[in-house]
Parts: sequence; structure tokens; C-alpha cells
Amino acid sequence: MNKMLALNWKMNPTSVAEVEKLMQAMKVALAQIRTGDVVVFPPAMYLDLITRIKESEQIYLELGVQDVAIAEKGAYTSQISANMAAGLGLQYALVGHSETHQYLGVTDASVGQKVLQVLQSGINPMICIGYQEDTSSQEIDYDMLKSQLQQALEPSKDLITNQDICIAYEPVWAIGTGVTPSPETIETVIIFLKRTVQEILGAKTAENVRFLYGGSVNSGNIEEFNALPELDGFLIGGASLKPEELPKLAQVVV
Ligand code: PGA
Repeated sequence: MNKMLALNWKMNPTSVAEVEKLMQAMKVALAQIRTGDVVVFPPAMYLDLITRIKESEQIYLELGVQDVAIAEKGAYTSQISANMAAGLGLQYALVGHSETHQYLGVTDASVGQKVLQVLQSGINPMICIGYQEDTSSQEIDYDMLKSQLQQALEPSKDLITNQDICIAYEPVWAIGTGVTPSPETIETVIIFLKRTVQEILGAKTAENVRFLYGGSVNSGNIEEFNALPELDGFLIGGASLKPEELPKLAQVVV
């Protein structure tokens, strides 16, 4: 299975000039990449600009939206539907990121509705698992992780065939903090998530699902995590905005 490098820019950068600079850095870092296994989730405001830069500079990356609505269209002020993203040629939608739980009222149940929208629109969901209200507790709650996976996948399990489903384990306490679980812990949790996805989707469908880790990944720790046999890639926030970090991060997919 190909490794996946997913870069979540969150609400950054804050100017067009900075977007252009970051895209130039991406171009250099990704110069050797010729596959579709790098995806950037920029603020939706910049998608058009980034698409034009990506095409004119021939940068090999896919684009995605950072969230989608629970419905196809209608009175959902401020939101974006999965259909809109699909219509613009985007390949991925991030669903259930912890910051959408924290600031936008996303729940484990609404993650399932969003995943359904994403799959019905024909694009690929990148589903974040690991949000909990107590953002500082480092205890692994396997029941919670299982329930999050069930709620995310059950509503659309009959629609899942060979789409590129990515599950990102993102313990909320590790996001943006500089603190990470140990490699052994990540491996243990990923094995558990894989087993749970097999139970939900069946072994054959589960074979195509990719499992990522996200939370304070940077050029200093990515190599050690990348050696974990069960891990299929990374979802990276802060470090993806730093041009000097990008070449090392890109090594994952070269
Ligand atoms: P971080 O963010 O790499 O800045 O910790 C990861 C994420 O929010 O997906």
C-alpha cells in the first residue's frame, strides 16, 4: 500500500503572498513525487488559487476540504458540501478533525453523516479518530475509539468498495502540543483500529483502508514513526506550514 502524506493547513497562511511562497516550497519538496499520495487541505478560500498554481507549476499533489456539511445543499450558512468539493475536482475531505469537534459542534454521530456525504459525492474521506472532551488525558480509551469508528463508518458501510478511505489516529492531546505518544503506543492503537475496521467493514474491504497518525509530527520524529510496519502515513498540521520542514516530511512518500 502506498504511503499517504496529508497536510492540514488549518486556518493558515493568512495572505495570498504566503500561500504562493508555501506552494513554491511544496514544489521543491515534492519534486521527486509522481503519485497522488500527497494531499493538502488548505482553507477553502485558497483552493482556486492553489489549483492554478498546482497546474501551472506541475506540482504532484491532491487537494481536499477541511470539513463538509451533513447535507447536500441548503440552509447551512458558512458550510461546504461534499458535492461542491467533488464538482471542483477535489479528491479528499477531512472529516471529524478535533478542531471541528471543539469549535464547530461536530459530534461522533455527525461524523458518520459527513462520511456518508463524502462517499455519495464520489470523493475520499480522511476520518480523524481520537477526539475527546478531556483534551489533556493521555489514557487510551479503546471503547471510545471503537465507538467513534462505528459511528463514522456504519452509516455508509454498504457504499464502501474500493474508495481510498483513510483513518487518522489523532489523539487530541498530541495535536499542536509538541508531545506525541511513543511509537509502540501508536503501533498498538493502529493494530486495534485495523481490527475494529475489519469487524465493521469485513476483512476484504478493510484491506484497502489506510491508517495514518497525526499529532505533532515533524522532521525530527517522522522517520521513527515511519518505520512502524502498521502505519500507512501521516496527517500533519503545524510542520506542514514550515518550508524548511517539507523536504524531510516528503521523504515518506518518495
Ligand atoms: P499538528 O496538527 O501536526 O500541528 O499537531 C495535526 C492535525 O491537527 O491534524
